[in-house]
Amino acid sequence: MAPQPASAATRKHRRSSRPLPQCLSILVLALAASGITVGSAQLSSEDYYDGSCPAALFTIRSAVATAVLLDRRMGASLLRLHFHDCFVQGCDASVLLDDTASFTGEKGAGPNAGSLRGFDVIDNIKMLLELLCPQTVSCADILAVAARDSVVQLGGPSWTVLLGRRDATTASASLANSDLPGPTSNLNALLNAFANKGLSSTDMVALSGSIRDSPTAGCFVPVSSPPSSSRAAFVPVRAGAHTVGRAQCKNCRARIYNDTDIDASFAASLRGSCPAQAGGAGDAALEPLDASSPDDFDNAYFGNLLARRGLLHSDQALFDGGATDGLVSAYASDADRWGGDFAAAMVRMGSISPLTGTDGEIRVNCRRVN
Ligand code: HEM
Repeated sequence: MAPQPASAATRKHRRSSRPLPQCLSILVLALAASGITVGSAQLSSEDYYDGSCPAALFTIRSAVATAVLLDRRMGASLLRLHFHDCFVQGCDASVLLDDTASFTGEKGAGPNAGSLRGFDVIDNIKMLLELLCPQTVSCADILAVAARDSVVQLGGPSWTVLLGRRDATTASASLANSDLPGPTSNLNALLNAFANKGLSSTDMVALSGSIRDSPTAGCFVPVSSPPSSSRAAFVPVRAGAHTVGRAQCKNCRARIYNDTDIDASFAASLRGSCPAQAGGAGDAALEPLDASSPDDFDNAYFGNLLARRGLLHSDQALFDGGATDGLVSAYASDADRWGGDFAAAMVRMGSISPLTGTDGEIRVNCRRVN
């Protein structure tokens, strides 16, 4: 079933340029005017664990804050973990399962092996939550909340995470290989990968990018053009996915040595740390996805694309003479529009085919079925 759009009420983020009370008044007025209903047909609102595990959200937030303090890149890694969970069988924590005799898990799949990080952080959170409220908080919900909290921790926006996901009892390496888009994808392949999950081209561009600064940064802004069939969303401006984190040389080598739609000095500087020869230790050399500010949710990513400085072939594909060029340019100059689309897309991505009700289970250990 296609993910349900939902409202994404937001909170201030670190670099707020307006006092919180003013932002809150705007939000309250806007919510009242719109008659928003938070939630989707399947997932519940963020107070889902208030009765059964009141410390759940605080516990996740604290653990994420500590993890990001120790290793700032971990914020990016946890965000990506949620994406790689949701695109394979839906947001069901299948990505966390180790291989068993009956199935080969997703950790060893092409897009994940030697690349996905953050499993230990999720294990620690789960261990704490099992002590506080046994078998109550799902691993899939932990991933969704940890992704949002990571973004906030890196200075990005916040949104309401819908809760009530349950955990899968199986995982699929082959679906991970087929359903996750790759770094050499062209625009059509990217659009198809997202369309297959019920996500639009706008969702695809918005989730990958970040925005230029805005006079309203740090405050709540209404979505200027809500996605079709969506309830209105209210989101802060400024954020993005490939505005943080790193990619390995093996994933950008072809681009920096062969692509022609790349800024020459950018390519030359990358060649210094990413050797042309495949198969050696250089394969794992790390390059920032956003060279301007690798560990902050800031406004550089779309500017990078306009300057032909996208690190991955799939990044530059968003601005390469194709159908999404206009959207990239629009986001580069209209922070509010981008902000609305980004938060709405995160809520939609987090709502891809969740297990709810009596489906699946609440795992005791995120790495194993009960
Ligand atoms: C549009 C299709 C996408 C493609 C082709 C893609 C591909 C990639 C690749 C190849 C890497 C580097 C992995 C490595 O070298 O080890 C990466 C990193 C990353 N991706 Fe994406 N990605 C896409 C969309 C997304 C989305 C939708 C999100 C989140 C909402 C996301 C979040 C991230 C983050 C945060 C990192 C850095 C992770 C880290 O440093 O640990 N990506 N992506």
